[in-house]
Amino acid sequence: MSSSVNGDADVVVGRIEPCRVVELPEIVDARGSLCVVESGKEIDFDVKRAYYMFGMPPGTRRGGHGHRRLRQLIIAVHGRFEVKVDDGFSTRTFVLDHPRLGLYMTPMVWRDMVDFTPGTVGLWLVSEPYDESDYYRDYDEFLRDARSGA
Ligand code: TYD
Repeated sequence: MSSSVNGDADVVVGRIEPCRVVELPEIVDARGSLCVVESGKEIDFDVKRAYYMFGMPPGTRRGGHGHRRLRQLIIAVHGRFEVKVDDGFSTRTFVLDHPRLGLYMTPMVWRDMVDFTPGTVGLWLVSEPYDESDYYRDYDEFLRDARSGA
């Protein structure tokens, strides 16, 4: 398991391979645990936006989109869920089941979030402000661009 992602110039767009689970530094003492995410260390982007999700009913499926430019780190700060990723050529499923784990994702990768356990809270740290034009919401459009390297 990788412990960090560094080097802006090295970002590979449109492939699953750079997407990986990063083990975040965890500072443990008698009061509990504290995990840290720092730009330039655990992630290779500046965090321009954070959002979180909670209250997902059983059977919820979220995501169902891809991003043109956005990079992100996804953390299950409580509970567990799975992220199915697809670069148009192959697919992979990542499990987030501990708050010390973050899934780092590069652009041009389709994702679906599934199998949320009750009470799950997911946190997204992302590289861009909200911009609907950065989204692929249509899988066929994503597939066409991903496969042509757009
Ligand atoms: P959506 O993209 O459907 O969430 P998911 O990641 O599960 O696919 O977003 C749900 C709604 O929230 C949608 O109307 C867009 C809006 N939204 C914002 O206004 N700002 C944000 O930063 C995000 C992530 C979503």
